[in-house]
Amino acid sequence: MVIKLGGSAITHKDVPMSPNMPLIEQIAQEFSSSWNGRRVLLVHGGGSFGHHAAMKYIDGSGKILDPRGMAEIRHAMHRLTSLLAEAFLGRGVPFFAVDPSACFLCEEEEGGGFKIKPFLRPVELVLEAGLLPSLGGDIVISTMGRGRILSGDTIARMLALASSARLLAFGTDVDGYLEGGVPLRKVGRNSLQGIVAGAKGRSNDVTGGMAGKLMEISEYFSSGGGRVLIFNASRPGNVARLLLGEEVEGTYIE
Ligand code: IPE
Repeated sequence: MVIKLGGSAITHKDVPMSPNMPLIEQIAQEFSSSWNGRRVLLVHGGGSFGHHAAMKYIDGSGKILDPRGMAEIRHAMHRLTSLLAEAFLGRGVPFFAVDPSACFLCEEEEGGGFKIKPFLRPVELVLEAGLLPSLGGDIVISTMGRGRILSGDTIARMLALASSARLLAFGTDVDGYLEGGVPLRKVGRNSLQGIVAGAKGRSNDVTGGMAGKLMEISEYFSSGGGRVLIFNASRPGNVARLLLGEEVEGTYIE
C-alpha cells in the first residue's frame, strides 16, 4: 500500500514553515500501534514548507533557475522530513527517508516539458530491510540543470504503479473528494475526467491542489493502476484503519 500524507494535513498551509505537530504525532502513534512491519510506502507533501519556498522562486513555466532557490526548497523539505522522522522514530517506527533525487530522474524534453523516470531499487532495498521507506515531494535537478518540483502525488503514483499497490491512499485535510461540501463515497474511473475538469487548485500550491491530485489519479488509471482512496488523514483512527486493511470513510475511486 502507498500512503501519501498531504501537506494540507501535516502542515498549516497558510502559515510559512508551520508543521501541524499534534497531527504528525497522532499519525506517528497510529503507525506505532498498527503498522506491524507491513509493506507500506509512505510519501508526504510539502505544505507550508515546500510550497512556501517554491512560490518564491518558481517561474511561470514551473522551473526554478536560481541556485539559492533550489537549495532553499530542498532545505525546507528536509526540515519537514526531519520532524516526521523524529515523531515516528520516537514511537519506535523505523521511518527511513529516501531522497527523491536518488530515485527519480527528471529529463527535460524539447518544447519545455519534462519526463520523470523512476529508479526504485533503493526503495525496494529499504522495504526489504523491514524499514518504512518515506519520500517527500521535493525539488529535483533536471538533465538541463533546472530545478523542477516533483510533487508527492506524482511520487505516490509512480511508487504505487511500480509496486502494483493494493491501494493508493491520499490523506488530506478533508473527508474525500467533495461535491457541494459532501464527500463522494465512490467514483468510477470513467467519471474521473468530468470531475478533474470541475476541480480547481489552491492558489498557495505550486502543484495544483485537489485538481493536480485528480490528474495524477487519472494518469494512474491510464497506466493500469488499481484502487485509490482520498481520505481525511486528520481524523483520529483513519490511518490506523488503513494500515489494518480496513475500509476508511472517504472517496474510493476504482
Ligand atoms: C510539493 O509536494 C513539494 C514541494 C513543493 C517541494 P506536494 O505537491 O505533494 O505537496 P502537498 O501535499 O500539495 O503540500
